Amino acid sequence: MSEPTFLDILQPWDGVGVLVRRDHPTGTWIFVAIHDDTLGPATGGLRMKVYDRPEEGLRDALRLSEGMTFKWAAMDFPFGGGKTVLAIPRPLEDEERRGLMLRFGALLNSLGGRYGTGADLGTTTRDMQTIAEVSEYVIGVHGRSKGPMDPSPFTALGVFAGIRAAVEHRFGSADLSGRSVLVQGVGAVGAPLTGYLAEAGARVLVSDADTEAAGRVAHACSGAVIAPEHVYSTECDVYAPCAVGATLNIRTIPELRCSIVAGAANNQLESPEDAGRLQEQGILYAPDYVINGGGAMAFTLIYQGLDPISAVEERVSAIGTQLKSMFEESDRTGSSPLDAARSQAERILRRGPRDPDVSSFGDIRGRFSR
Ligand code: NAI
Repeated sequence: MSEPTFLDILQPWDGVGVLVRRDHPTGTWIFVAIHDDTLGPATGGLRMKVYDRPEEGLRDALRLSEGMTFKWAAMDFPFGGGKTVLAIPRPLEDEERRGLMLRFGALLNSLGGRYGTGADLGTTTRDMQTIAEVSEYVIGVHGRSKGPMDPSPFTALGVFAGIRAAVEHRFGSADLSGRSVLVQGVGAVGAPLTGYLAEAGARVLVSDADTEAAGRVAHACSGAVIAPEHVYSTECDVYAPCAVGATLNIRTIPELRCSIVAGAANNQLESPEDAGRLQEQGILYAPDYVINGGGAMAFTLIYQGLDPISAVEERVSAIGTQLKSMFEESDRTGSSPLDAARSQAERILRRGPRDPDVSSFGDIRGRFSR
């Protein structure tokens, strides 16, 4: 069978549009996909990757921009779904990379604020600073200095709020004292999460492929280390996947001995049917794309001008409230929390924007709704 062409990939897609540009100096294909702008300007990260064929980059841009539509809508945040893929022919460094970022910045400007970007797989906050030299439509760079910001502590805070909401839903109280939480992956998100959990009195179990990091973090939060091969079969109240995707699947789910799965990792379910498998096993699942939205949320709030940081943190913690209403809908309807999240997002998209005057990134600076 022949490989799918750009047209084959675009035909079934129902998004707003895609901007396709060939960056001749580097041989990069640029795909800016705007899936939906019902709730506000399309916003999503800039992914840079070497693909076997540029068509795969286009496919990623379409799929990921759609994911952003539902992420923002599920959080009831005033942004639309967008994503850019830079399908590079080989890894780019130094001046070549900088040149590409600057040209991408000019392209971003040509969209006049219909799409805003941030760091994603393959790009760094340094790249965002470069783009910000020529474009204002960049989140994750701070103030006049355009200094880089790290989303991870905000992501960790959102996950912490989500864990509390799930514990409250399952056990009737959000009190974490004495509850055991197994954090798999103690990197940029997992490590600060263990801090929040320990402070709240939880018994923290730590696992990481990097055994030295696991030991260090476990020591800091007075927790215990679990060997990677025992993660799924370890008894705990909450399993918080904060490392890689697809850890929940037909093989691992039967092994689980937790009541709740709530963590930061993207694409935790190997397939959508795994949400049903968790439900059948009586495990409460906090949909990944909702619980891990704290970093994206914080960056847009800061871009909008929300200050001080404590106000940003308060808004990020509201992820817990959003998740609670998904858990309640799941109980009421018998659907999985994943389906409940999707239904809530669809309802919010049908409802439309809270502020219909905001359609471009230029409009959102200095205004936010509480
Ligand atoms: P990171 O790279 O800083 O940390 C990942 C940690 O997981 C590392 O300590 C690594 O040693 C460990 N690890 C990798 N493979 C493992 C395995 N198979 N078993 C056990 N441990 C393993 O990544 P970060 O930023 O903490 O992100 C964690 C997850 O959360 C990723 O899936 C990421 O996509 C997702 N996420 C992160 C956000 C952020 O703000 N950083 C935002 C939304 C999602």
